[in-house]
Amino acid sequence: MKTETTTTNLVAPVGMHDVLYPHSVRWEQVIATFANLVERAGFGLVISPLLEDIAVFNRGIGSESDVVRKEMYELSDRGGRHLALRPEGTASIVRAFVQHRPNIVWKAWYLTPAFRYERPQAGRYRQHHQLGVELLGTHDPEADIEIISLAGSFYRSLGIKKVKLSINSMGDSQCRPSYIELLKNLLSERKEQLCKEHEHRVELNPLRILDCKREECIQATADLPHLIDHLCSDCASHFATVQEGLADLGFEAEVNHRLVRGLDYYTRTTFEFSALMLQSAQNAIGGGGRYDGLVEALGGPPTPGIGFGIGIERLLLAADEEGVLPLPESSTDVFVIDIVGGHRARTLVHELRTHGIRAIRSFDNRSLKAQLKLANRSGARFALIVGPDEDRAEAVTIKALREDESQVSIKASLVTDYMKGLLG
Ligand code: HAM
Repeated sequence: MKTETTTTNLVAPVGMHDVLYPHSVRWEQVIATFANLVERAGFGLVISPLLEDIAVFNRGIGSESDVVRKEMYELSDRGGRHLALRPEGTASIVRAFVQHRPNIVWKAWYLTPAFRYERPQAGRYRQHHQLGVELLGTHDPEADIEIISLAGSFYRSLGIKKVKLSINSMGDSQCRPSYIELLKNLLSERKEQLCKEHEHRVELNPLRILDCKREECIQATADLPHLIDHLCSDCASHFATVQEGLADLGFEAEVNHRLVRGLDYYTRTTFEFSALMLQSAQNAIGGGGRYDGLVEALGGPPTPGIGFGIGIERLLLAADEEGVLPLPESSTDVFVIDIVGGHRARTLVHELRTHGIRAIRSFDNRSLKAQLKLANRSGARFALIVGPDEDRAEAVTIKALREDESQVSIKASLVTDYMKGLLG
């Protein structure tokens, strides 16, 4: 076990990142756009603990999935409870549903950090952040259409256009078992052609092999039958309705037979949005699907569900590639320069902010020159100077910083209204 570091340079853990201003402003924009969109569709924010009993993920996500087997952050608390940091949001939301039994249809949205002990690289982190929705309590394919189109609308509303939607059906407990048997039989004859990791997993999780990105597995599975050709009639008609509905709303969805997804709770519809401008290993900017057995697996009554999760970091990488969501020029309108000290500047800043103007000030009684430098660096459009002359005349000097650098003196009592006019 690696113990506490003794170096003096403490840094964030490997694969985890700080988001500082002004980059954090883009996060605020993304989160606000998402909240606005999903709340218009009737989803309510749910906040739940970051730590869960480890059984929530073992039973919910599946103990054979990579996320649980290899990537989960596990810990014991001082009372000896076996807990885990959540690797995703869905299992926790479903645990909360089972615990509180809200009325169905239940529509929840969330923003959560997610922890996965992966090999860090561009677009793949050990702590990432997801925006997601979960809709519980209906089998209706209209719910699938609503969920998928909501994610698609979100990308559009951010201006991210180069996005591909892939879709598949995982079948259900009626049709999937016989397909899995068929896969096992076919794959056991070609075990030696599979990659090192998967040659031993034919019996345990043959579907996962379809998702393997290694060339050996892709070749060895190229001619395998597709699950969508083995669906029962209910699953087949559900899938057809979802595809029709999406097309109807103008969302083009391409069927991808390999889209089995990394979490084992999925039934019927699965989908993924990939950014065409990003490298294929990290281009999934969102994904989800139906999980009609998950509520029961976590001890609740049979209740179908569907949802998606969108990774904020990857979304921003895609936005960078498309040149949308630029960093803000400035977060301040006005910089108050105080050369006299005391109540004048204090009152002025307070009043400006009360009237909705973004105002900051300097501290520590610096020289006019030093404060002007700070004002220019702040990105503010105007400096408001309170010096000895202004103090005597009960006035304030307003100096334009970005345009012609003109200045004008205004009675202190009129400054707020004057600035409101100037800033529009
Ligand atoms: P997921 O596909 O594992 O699904 O993750 C959702 C999204 O989170 C991915 O599409 C990607 O954008 C982002 N993501 C995942 N892992 C990482 C990582 N290591 N670094 C950066 N970003 C990452 C789920 O988590 C499901 N809970 C989605 C869902 C909701 N299914 C039904 N409801």
